[in-house]
Amino acid sequence: MSKFYVTTPIYYVNGAPHIGHAYTTVVADALARHYRQRGDAVFFMTGTDDHGLKVQRAAEEAGQSPKALADRNSAVYAGLFEQLGLTHDRFIRTTDPDHEAAAVELVRRMQAAGDIYLGHYEGWYAASDEAFYDASEIEDGHARGSGAKVEWVQESSYFFRLSRYAERLLAWYADPSAPVQPESRRNEVASFVASGLKDLSISRTTFDWGVAWPDDPEHVLYVWVDALTNYLTGAGAFADPERMARWWPADLHLIGKDILRFHAVYWPAFLMSAGLDLPRQVLAHGWWVDERGEKGSKSKGNVVEVWPLLERYTLDSLRYFLLREKPLATDGVFSERRLVERNNNELADNLGNLVNRVLKMVERYEGGIVPDGHRSDAARDQELRERCQATRGEVEAAIDAREPNVALEAIFALSSACNLYVNDLRPWDLAKSDDPLRLSQVLYHALESIRQILVLAAAFLPDASRRGMAGLSLGGDAALAYAGLDWGGLPVGARVKAPALLFEKIDLDEPDAEPTGEGSEPGSPMAHEASASRGPVAEASAGTTIGMADFERVELRIGAILAAEPVTGADRLLRLSVDLGEASGPRQIVAGIAESYAPAALIGCRVAVVANLAPARIRGVESQGMLLAAQTAGGGLELAQFGQDVPLGTRIR
Ligand code: MSP
Repeated sequence: MSKFYVTTPIYYVNGAPHIGHAYTTVVADALARHYRQRGDAVFFMTGTDDHGLKVQRAAEEAGQSPKALADRNSAVYAGLFEQLGLTHDRFIRTTDPDHEAAAVELVRRMQAAGDIYLGHYEGWYAASDEAFYDASEIEDGHARGSGAKVEWVQESSYFFRLSRYAERLLAWYADPSAPVQPESRRNEVASFVASGLKDLSISRTTFDWGVAWPDDPEHVLYVWVDALTNYLTGAGAFADPERMARWWPADLHLIGKDILRFHAVYWPAFLMSAGLDLPRQVLAHGWWVDERGEKGSKSKGNVVEVWPLLERYTLDSLRYFLLREKPLATDGVFSERRLVERNNNELADNLGNLVNRVLKMVERYEGGIVPDGHRSDAARDQELRERCQATRGEVEAAIDAREPNVALEAIFALSSACNLYVNDLRPWDLAKSDDPLRLSQVLYHALESIRQILVLAAAFLPDASRRGMAGLSLGGDAALAYAGLDWGGLPVGARVKAPALLFEKIDLDEPDAEPTGEGSEPGSPMAHEASASRGPVAEASAGTTIGMADFERVELRIGAILAAEPVTGADRLLRLSVDLGEASGPRQIVAGIAESYAPAALIGCRVAVVANLAPARIRGVESQGMLLAAQTAGGGLELAQFGQDVPLGTRIR
């Protein structure tokens, strides 16, 4: 049995998660599930990067302590990953005590190797990337690659002798196991290293939100030294030698292409200095971009949030799109139209339809019992059996090559082949003929192929696979093991019951639930204000009393703001994701509070929501509720807010 230790980047807690964060974590989850099915010991870790200047500044802006902001936003990430059904074995935070200890110990080891000296740093720093830049990388006050704003920094700093490691890094890139992937990225870092490495500033003194430098509390560790060490912490480094021997080195650091330098230059150099093995693979994936090819950014207002997608699509549809639409290494356009097309044409029409029709036929023609037909000499049957076996090989090879899109392509090609098999061999005609054996053989072959497809697909479409397997009376992890994939694993005599549709079709052009609020006025201070003032409740104008029954009709509830972003083209509006503790997930609410609140300051706030207001569209964006606020003397708006101990969804009376 081999082991597979897979990591994602740990995410900054200065803001809310978006599709880019979900993407890496979903890919890692699919790989983790796949290797578990192959019998490997898997350790899958994700988490949050709690420290650093960027988080400290976001906390200042929100009027909170960095720890409070980190606690709150880290919980938002953890909550999202739970909602996404991800199977990580640890959600690590850089504020975890074992992690802080590991980060300090790594620095001590680098010190012991003679690789650290005290100096003075003077140069450019970009807080949003938490990166130092050379003057040659700056253009008009911004880092050329990322576009991040840079500032001039002058401070006393500890340096790491990165320059010592150039040769060894180049040798590592050239290793036949190709540890840095894809090749184009490997060439990119190799030429960066070959062009000359400067020593790296690895401590900061001008702020304090970080791990204290060992024996010099004036300094905190540079956030990337701290963050990268999380991969060691997860493996029990410096604390649990047995665990470390079992899990280290990591088998795969899955990252986005923008953070390659940290993972493929700094990280291996730190590890070399500390005398530790290097990760087996660092793989940089491409980005999800918009139609213009731009990566989502808050300032451009083109960030794709995850919660609204979860309201519209199933987890499996979203996972399928993310994993199938583009190769890992390249960029891809995030398009809901494509997601819906793939859902309808591939999930519903191909796999969903196959499972549904075959199981129904078994119900109809075999009384819902798996017929005895797994041995047959018919050429078409043999072909299908071979096809199943070959597909298993293709899926394994594709995942070993980190190509989930290719794995899915192979699985869906098998599903098409199986549909074709059924179309050609026509069980409905066989049922009318007097050849029950042939009918049994055909239906067994179709059913067993379905079992194989569901096992192969389980890592990518866990929910549909589970429901499909249940239709074959199979369940649990054991039924998903690749070891059970040999032909004939479906027991003859088992009960079959067609599950409810595996995949629902989505009508993309379905008109959105239209403005119940015709009167809703985009510029009004509170979203929905106008619609709230219609109807029976509002017939009472100022000064008139209403009965308790009237008041009871307004459902006011406590909600927590999970995410906030400007509405493009509307200066006063913010689009909020608000969690009312409802099973259906958070709501999208548009509120006219942009002039009074910075989006970051709202994250985690508990507010009062009119929960039973009919939805309305405001500047084309659906709003599913309204927040309560009052106008301040200065003309701004102040939200009605509650403490963190009031549970979500609590009714305000
Ligand atoms: N905290 C660091 C990572 C430390 S790891 C030791 C960090 N955090 S991040 O939250 O800013 O970004 C995490 C990841 O999200 C990066 O890998 C980045 O590539 C990825 N993405 C951000 N936007 C993305 C897309 N639009 N598409 C795909 N991934 C993108 O960097």
